[in-house]
Amino acid sequence: GTQSTAEVVSKAEGNKKLTVGFAQIGQESGWRDAETASIQFYAGQHVDTIDFKFADAQQKQENQIKAIKSFIEMGVDVIGLAPVVETGWDAVFTEAKDAGIPIVLLDRRAKVSDDLYTTFIGSDFITEGQNAADELAKLLNNKGNIVELEGTVGASAANDRKKGFDDQLAAKYPDMKVIASQTGDFTRAKGKEVMESFLKTYGNKINAVYAHNDDMMLGAIEAMKEAGMKPGKDIKTVSCDGVKGIFQAMVDGEANVTVECNPLLGPQFFETCQKLKNGETVEKWIKSQESVFRADTAAKDLPTRVY
Ligand code: AHR
Repeated sequence: GTQSTAEVVSKAEGNKKLTVGFAQIGQESGWRDAETASIQFYAGQHVDTIDFKFADAQQKQENQIKAIKSFIEMGVDVIGLAPVVETGWDAVFTEAKDAGIPIVLLDRRAKVSDDLYTTFIGSDFITEGQNAADELAKLLNNKGNIVELEGTVGASAANDRKKGFDDQLAAKYPDMKVIASQTGDFTRAKGKEVMESFLKTYGNKINAVYAHNDDMMLGAIEAMKEAGMKPGKDIKTVSCDGVKGIFQAMVDGEANVTVECNPLLGPQFFETCQKLKNGETVEKWIKSQESVFRADTAAKDLPTRVY
């Protein structure tokens, strides 16, 4: 039959693809690669309905800001961002708001007023830090010297994992002390480098390492072994993420605990973007479900891990 012009137009609009721009941080860790893969896989599976633009900012906020500006220019439906650091977003988020484009924060938070972003999809990093402290307390019988490998300076994942950990020590474990704390920028290479310097300065005073991610811990494990120490035994370890490499280290008896952080956010991200395009409202915080994994079950858990 014949269609009226109005019907043809509304059909075309109904078929319009969801266009999404995502400004990723970079490729600093196995976790980050898994997140990128999850997002790109979902977009690849939905090319008929999703038009996806991906930008890799190489760890630089200025590159993320440039990417957001270009997404605004393109007139995408939704902008996704994993903010490398928490602060400095007000101006560009305001530009997006003025253009009527919602911002979805993925996995890391930005310190902006509530009206400048639509939702945060990700973990409770404070809880992760508290869990890390509780796990180390069990490994240390509530007493000992800890060195800390912090994530990227100014990142919510680093700030909150530190805060949760410190608060828990202050509240519950007066005999556990952080004797040194330095950034390893969430990378394996820097984690190793910083651990080497901790070992030089503090030697066998160190009873445990708390690393804000597994990659830095994997670097620290190398450093400990090269210094003739037995990580997981002489020096206890707790780190965050749950990547396969740390499960293997636990199986090998060289690591003790990982506090899981879920990077497989692709499906939730795009489902949320679609809802926003449809004009639906979404929760302000779409929280990840996560657990803690210990060495005693690592051999059984490793084959089930997907990242
Ligand atoms: O924002 C999540 C953190 O960023 C992960 O724990 C870390 O591995 C990544 O680089």
